[in-house]
Amino acid sequence: MVDARSASPESDGDRIQKRTFSARWLKRRLTVIMIFFGTTLLLIWYFGAFGLGRPYPQPPYEPTQPNGSLVIDLPKYGSFRGTQVISNLRKTKKFSSPVDAWMGIEYSTQPADKERFKAVTWPEPFTGTRNATSNGPACFQNMYGSLGQSEACLTVSIFRPSGIPMDQKLPVLAYLHGGSFVVGSHRSFDGAMFVQKSAQPLMVVTAQYRLGALGSLPGDFMEREGLLNLGIRDQKMMLRFLQRYIENFGGDPQKITLGGQSAGGHSVGIHLFHDYGNDKGKPLFHQAILASGSPTARAFPGVDYALYKKQVDHFMDYVNCPTTPASQALECLRSAEADDIQFISSSLYNANNHNITWPWQPVSPGPLFQKRGSTSGEDGTFFKIPMLISSTTNEGKAFVPHDIDTNNDFLGFWKTLVPGLTPQDLTDLDEMYPDPDTVEDSPYKTEVGTFISAQYERISAAYGDYSYICPVQDTASRLSSADAPVYKARWNTPNHAPTYMGVPHASDASYFNGQVGTQYPEIADLYSAYWASFVVSGDPNTHAQEGAVTWEKYDVKDGKSGRELVVSPPTKGGAQMEDEDKGIRMDQCEWWRDEDRAKRLNK
Ligand SMILES: *[C@@H]1O[C@H](CO)[C@@H](O)[C@H](O)[C@H]1NC(C)=O
Ligand SMILES: *[C@@H]1O[C@H](CO)[C@@H](O)[C@H](O)[C@H]1NC(C)=O
Ligand SMILES: *[C@@H]1O[C@H](CO)[C@@H](O)[C@H](O)[C@H]1NC(C)=O
Repeated sequence: MVDARSASPESDGDRIQKRTFSARWLKRRLTVIMIFFGTTLLLIWYFGAFGLGRPYPQPPYEPTQPNGSLVIDLPKYGSFRGTQVISNLRKTKKFSSPVDAWMGIEYSTQPADKERFKAVTWPEPFTGTRNATSNGPACFQNMYGSLGQSEACLTVSIFRPSGIPMDQKLPVLAYLHGGSFVVGSHRSFDGAMFVQKSAQPLMVVTAQYRLGALGSLPGDFMEREGLLNLGIRDQKMMLRFLQRYIENFGGDPQKITLGGQSAGGHSVGIHLFHDYGNDKGKPLFHQAILASGSPTARAFPGVDYALYKKQVDHFMDYVNCPTTPASQALECLRSAEADDIQFISSSLYNANNHNITWPWQPVSPGPLFQKRGSTSGEDGTFFKIPMLISSTTNEGKAFVPHDIDTNNDFLGFWKTLVPGLTPQDLTDLDEMYPDPDTVEDSPYKTEVGTFISAQYERISAAYGDYSYICPVQDTASRLSSADAPVYKARWNTPNHAPTYMGVPHASDASYFNGQVGTQYPEIADLYSAYWASFVVSGDPNTHAQEGAVTWEKYDVKDGKSGRELVVSPPTKGGAQMEDEDKGIRMDQCEWWRDEDRAKRLNK
């Protein structure tokens, strides 16, 4: 280990002192720690408040003991003993009937220590019976989070209603969690809750994939070693695992819905826009759900992206590894302290969070992402399968900086975030999102006398369009134009968000999960039933709640204008159909989707 470190041609006094914990070293670390804590608190608050709803007053219920009848034998692998779950994840709601669960099953080899930064493959067979009775550790992420974390984190948790004969093969929702490819875990989606809540029997599989620098380290040396997009490739391995084994758990390998929210939704988009290469004509999933996700979301530049180069250099510098030759870079990384990797991975993410210039994102071109979403869209290389897709009304408000006060700040934010914007693009942006300071009837005026910065409304509208709202519209219209059944929604129900944020990103998460304790419980009942119906039948209406409005297909073929389900709180009309152009900024979306521009912006 020490050898690999001192092999670095760039060793300097600073790093040698690092070993002896000098004042200088400590100072350098403390700065990072300070940055880290600021954003960490924000993240914990954010995911705590919106990701999983609020804590509830009911007393906890004890789960039942493992049930001997739940042993599943997987050929060429081994046996797993499941358990029964009788309450939701937070133990605030007791189920009326139990859910069978096999949790924490390794779907692949584990990328730990010497296997770190490698693509994974089929797990080693074993004898005996392993307990699959708890979720197991999350993938390395925010190091002060409360979750147990490990590099050996590539597991699935599988949930199935109790008492349904195993030869009745059930449709499956395979769920990819969100968290901007740096946080999230099995606990991001309560699989047992969704199973319990569904009127029709179905299964849920939650999956973990590598996060942060461990999931995507966009360096030249990684490209040379064929090691880009490891997190996305983990997800693919998971899908192969389900094709091989989900029948053994009583699931139907021909009825798999791949779903996800935010980064999970982008991931679904990346797998969806992949009707080329080895998968052509034989997709590993049959339907898709993208909640605030799209393959053209935000941007997915390649390893040549200047900012990624800087971030990777900073990362390698901290772990004291050379960037060339590639083999030595990898050898050094594989013998580095896992803690150091975890620390600098999340610190660099947090340091970039203010400008939303996140590191550790999937890169294109790269494995499973040879073409970017806009090119695949143009070429028609995507699976034409049923899709349910949504964005929230105020996506951007959860992310944008709160200190953008002038037009210059506004334009500066964009120049930093999207270097590919031309001077003309910036002029267009200025006009499409009129400056509340100088334009009399700008819709982005901030109420006087509030603490919100003068350009907050404007920047959040523009960022929401760039990152989520218009990409979602783009993906919906691509599939619809190719004759695939599409159901589109605009999520307009908050979940305990501060009023000034409206309906920010992730407001829908607890609702589609059917979780208890949301701000409008009846909307959770309604919306999770649409989701379950889609998983079971490919149509959200088949088993919708009684009296639910019909969710019309989104159809923009031959120049037709699209219709979407707007899901508002009951006090504001509840769920109803609306014309898409009443719900989102169509002209701006047209602009972001322009094929030349989308290419220039790495979409
Ligand atoms: C397992 O669960 C089933 C159904 O709930 C029950 O009938 C059976 O007795 C249980 N078996 C064991 C070993 O606990
Ligand atoms: C599985 O769990 C049971 C019950 O808690 C325990 O007795 C057993 O030792 C565990 N088996 C393994 C392999 O850990
Ligand atoms: C964030 O962007 C601004 C320009 O909008 C820039 O001046 C600043 O250095 C950036 N901050 C970081 C941490 O990159």
